[in-house]
Amino acid sequence: MTALLREGEATGTQCLVCKTPFRPFISFGRQPIANAFLRPDQVAGEFFFELTVGRCDACGMVQLGSLVDERKLFHEEYAFFSGTSKGMASHFERFARTMRGRLPSTDPLVVEIGSNDGIMLKHFAAAGIRHLGVEPSTNVADVARASGVRTVSRFFDEELAREIVASDGQADAILGANVICHIPYIHSVFGGVKLLMKPEGTFVFEDPYLGDVIEKTAYDQIYDEHVFYFSVSSLSKAFAMHDLEIVDVEPQSVHGGELRYTVQHRGAGAVSDNVVAQLRRESDLGLDRADTFERFRERVERSREDLVDLLRTTKAKGRRVVGYGATSKSTTVTNYCGIGPDLVEFISDTTPIKQGKLSPGTHIPVRPYADFQSRPPEVALLFAWNHAAEILAKESDFVAGGGRFIVYVPEVQFIP
Ligand code: SAH
Ligand code: TMP
Ligand code: ZN
Repeated sequence: MTALLREGEATGTQCLVCKTPFRPFISFGRQPIANAFLRPDQVAGEFFFELTVGRCDACGMVQLGSLVDERKLFHEEYAFFSGTSKGMASHFERFARTMRGRLPSTDPLVVEIGSNDGIMLKHFAAAGIRHLGVEPSTNVADVARASGVRTVSRFFDEELAREIVASDGQADAILGANVICHIPYIHSVFGGVKLLMKPEGTFVFEDPYLGDVIEKTAYDQIYDEHVFYFSVSSLSKAFAMHDLEIVDVEPQSVHGGELRYTVQHRGAGAVSDNVVAQLRRESDLGLDRADTFERFRERVERSREDLVDLLRTTKAKGRRVVGYGATSKSTTVTNYCGIGPDLVEFISDTTPIKQGKLSPGTHIPVRPYADFQSRPPEVALLFAWNHAAEILAKESDFVAGGGRFIVYVPEVQFIP
């Protein structure tokens, strides 16, 4: 499996699903690791790679043109803690409740891939349900363990699936959120699911949806961790190669628009009308046509011009601009648009591990939320636009005091 991960290997020549050569339709230039917030002494050795995305004409899978080794991305200092958003905490509580309702009554087993700090599995642990989290980033896994979530710090693949079957038996439910699209060795993952899932079991996962990325020009979803930009149409083909099938899909509003897929062994369950309807939507959106991606590229370029113009004008008027949320997504935006400390004074973030560090590539200081509160700027650049509802509710005083947010998805504009 790891043979597929050789650093800098240009997958840009070969589809990770069907091995057909493809050419990228967009390049974001030289980019650092999206979640690699740096201490000042780490600036000199900062790692960069060329970030490109392409679509395989043969199977339709949209994917990165080159990969960063997973051990450089997910490790003992991983910066993303799922629990930093209250909105996501309630989302995963609901997700867990829905899944619990579908489990058989006798001693079910739930396995979650990419369980992070236990945001979802802790609800199964609290209910005394047999569970196992698979989480390679040891710092976030330790938080999960501390809240009673049984966690193994490994990368999920077919080999690990075999080991879990030997130790725990097959799973009734395999879950994953914002992780399946991160794993380039997709055949090993799907092969592992095939082995690990009981005959009547389900594999339920959600990831950013290609349809939303295209419709909203959400180009900031594109960064090193997001290897794949899934659609029902492309995923169906990949699952079919493992005798698995998508039986249901449900759109989710979190993280800027995701799709939740329910997958079973082929023939184990009836395929919902939702799947057919979503496929029709994908064809209406033109996800099967190369020109759709050309137009996306044009909109991304325009978005960059609009954002830089707006920031420069705002700055010229003497207004302070502070970034809100040191998201991994913002790394693509700041590096692609050339937004540094000259345009954004600092980025406010509630995650302790990010504070006191510099944003990857552009080296904007990341500071605690208290710094935003004690001296609010005139303008906040909302890097965490996917949490806009939660943040706007929290920042009603900032807005009441005349503060404004800039967003760039789906368009560059001030809100409110
Ligand atoms: N599920 C959480 C975390 C998403 S971040 C949520 O939605 O908030 C992605 C997580 O997947 C990280 O914690 C990362 O360490 C983990 N991960 C990356 N590759 C993995 C793999 N091959 N197997 C299991 N987990 C993986
Ligand atoms: P995400 O978009 O990948 O979920 O990352 C959100 C980041 O924004 C994370 O670092 C936490 C931060 N954040 C804040 O600083 N304040 C907030 O109110 C929220 C919701 C997130
Ligand atoms: Zn392909």
